[in-house]
Amino acid sequence: MRVFRVGKLCWQPFHLHGSDDGGIFPFSFFTLVGHVWGKMFAEQESDIGILPSVKPFFKGKTIIITGGSRGIGRKLALRAAKDGANVVIVAKTADPNPKLPGTIFSVAAEVEKAGGKALAVPCDIRNDEQIKNVIDKTIEKFGGIDILVNNASAIMLADTLNLDMKRYDLMHDINVRGTFAMSKACIPYLMKGENPHILNMSPPLSMKPHWFAGHTAYTMSKYGMSMVALGLSAELEDKVFLRNEA
Ligand SMILES: NC(=O)c1ccc[n+]([C@@H]2O[C@H](COP(=O)([O-])OP(=O)(O)OC[C@H]3O[C@@H](n4cnc5c(N)ncnc54)[C@H](O)[C@@H]3O)[C@@H](O)[C@H]2O)c1
Repeated sequence: MRVFRVGKLCWQPFHLHGSDDGGIFPFSFFTLVGHVWGKMFAEQESDIGILPSVKPFFKGKTIIITGGSRGIGRKLALRAAKDGANVVIVAKTADPNPKLPGTIFSVAAEVEKAGGKALAVPCDIRNDEQIKNVIDKTIEKFGGIDILVNNASAIMLADTLNLDMKRYDLMHDINVRGTFAMSKACIPYLMKGENPHILNMSPPLSMKPHWFAGHTAYTMSKYGMSMVALGLSAELEDKVFLRNEA
């Protein structure tokens, strides 16, 4: 069994490698999500000496997931719901869109069906007032925040000459500013928790040219997300336990 020390907060910029999905970054995100989710789980379980399969880690925990209306955010929501978590689904999609699967309300219904408690809050994470509304509604319904998953992202894989500046702004506003603003809004409540986490869906900071070629602006925005995690780790050093991946 792996044993980790756990501090007040555990910010974990994750650095995992080994691609099997051919994505632009060097790992499979689905593997990554399972792995990081599993590590958070293992950390808690090892602390109390129970095997991971015995006690559901997310039971009773309140988890805010941005971009929870589809894709990876939805998968995370349903996995946590299976353990009996309180899941806050945060995304822009409140009304069904024929071109995209899921809404915050359809995922909330799935969360309840899977055994969790759900709260769906429409929010564009570029909007500070809407972020405040997410926090207020979460505290009102669940009384605290244990985990923030910064998952929402915009993507446009175009090279510099072919990228409209509106798209540049969109990616940086959602991926970097939105991640920063959501984290900033949640920190005061996370700090009150027993084992709080922030998980950013962003890659390791590799400066090798091939991670930039063809999509400089997108890579800059995802690296910005990673730097939010690194920066918060440094800022909160006296209050956090920093763990290296074994
Ligand atoms: N799918 C992959 O293979 C892959 C690969 C590398 C990285 N990722 C990362 O994983 C994360 C999730 O990817 P996905 O493929 O599930 O994404 P997706 O496009 O399927 O879903 C994105 C979600 O973000 C939400 N969103 C977008 N803009 C928003 C805004 N302004 N405010 C609030 N919510 C907003 C959408 O409503 C949606 O719920 C992203 O950070 C992405 O960069 C995914």
